[in-house]
Amino acid sequence: MERELALEIVRVTEMAALASARWMGTGRKMEADGAATSAMRAMFDTVQMRGTVVIGEGEMDEAPMLYIGEQLGCAKAPELDVAVDPLEGTNILAKGLWNAMAVVAVAPRGTLLHAPDMYMQKIAVGPSAKGQIDLDAPVADNLRAVARAQGKDIGDVVAVILDRPRHQQLIHEVRAAGARIKLISDGDVAAALNTAFPDTGVDILFGTGGAPEGVLAACALKCLGGEMQARLVPEDEEQLRRLQRMGIPDASRVLTMQDLVRGDDAIFAATGVTDGELLRGVRFLGNGRARTHSLVMRAQTGTVRLVEAIHDLNRKPVQADQAV
Ligand code: FBP
Repeated sequence: MERELALEIVRVTEMAALASARWMGTGRKMEADGAATSAMRAMFDTVQMRGTVVIGEGEMDEAPMLYIGEQLGCAKAPELDVAVDPLEGTNILAKGLWNAMAVVAVAPRGTLLHAPDMYMQKIAVGPSAKGQIDLDAPVADNLRAVARAQGKDIGDVVAVILDRPRHQQLIHEVRAAGARIKLISDGDVAAALNTAFPDTGVDILFGTGGAPEGVLAACALKCLGGEMQARLVPEDEEQLRRLQRMGIPDASRVLTMQDLVRGDDAIFAATGVTDGELLRGVRFLGNGRARTHSLVMRAQTGTVRLVEAIHDLNRKPVQADQAV
């Protein structure tokens, strides 16, 4: 993939973030998600690529745009898989809490896992602990391995976990091992990403969240040299059949980085909608101007760019609120 594409992709996440940030704290998550989705969709029309949505807003009959299989971009090449989450953390945004983001990943055609909308068990770490984790090993073993890799005591290690009743036993095991915990209300893409940035204060992600979010997080960690292991968690017969149709007959299989993002090429971009440990949220500055803070990176080169942009919203070719 051409390196210029990275800057085109970050323009897409910026526009989705600008559109959804208007809805911060309004309690209206559907409207916020709709605004992000419409703005992102419109912006994709300007990107020089031929993308196919593999992780999106739902199946064709469920979502008006950015649905699985939709073609995006204004060129015939490069042919890409596209994974989107126009507003990762709809509840976060609705309440004005931390870590809502607009997220896009692109990779060469056929390289991203077409993860269906079901749960996924995940473990993720940044580059310092790559190769040290094992989804099937006891929680305490993983924590000890991370501590060893980072030259820390186990009590210095912080695990980030979605605050859900299903994680009660996991939380108990982390506490019993002597590590510390950051419980989050939502947003496990940001949580996985944060494990690769020591300043964010988290070292390892454990727990079960969305499978589409898992693929996005794996793209990010591929760019950062981190690691994620995962397992799809079908909840009923229909979801099991869906996996079989996808060519995953054994749902219990551990998915490695290569299963989640095949090859060595991927671009990941995220723009903060609300403030987070890594990215600041959108700031409306007055007089039609707004500031965004984004992260964009390429797996091929490992370049990580933090991009701060000031936008004149009246002069955008695509208006951030055009679909609201
Ligand atoms: P949405 O943006 O779709 O609301 O997802 C937020 C999120 O917290 C994800 O980050 C996470 O993977 C998933 O929801 C967890 O699902 P659940 O809320 O069902 O536990």
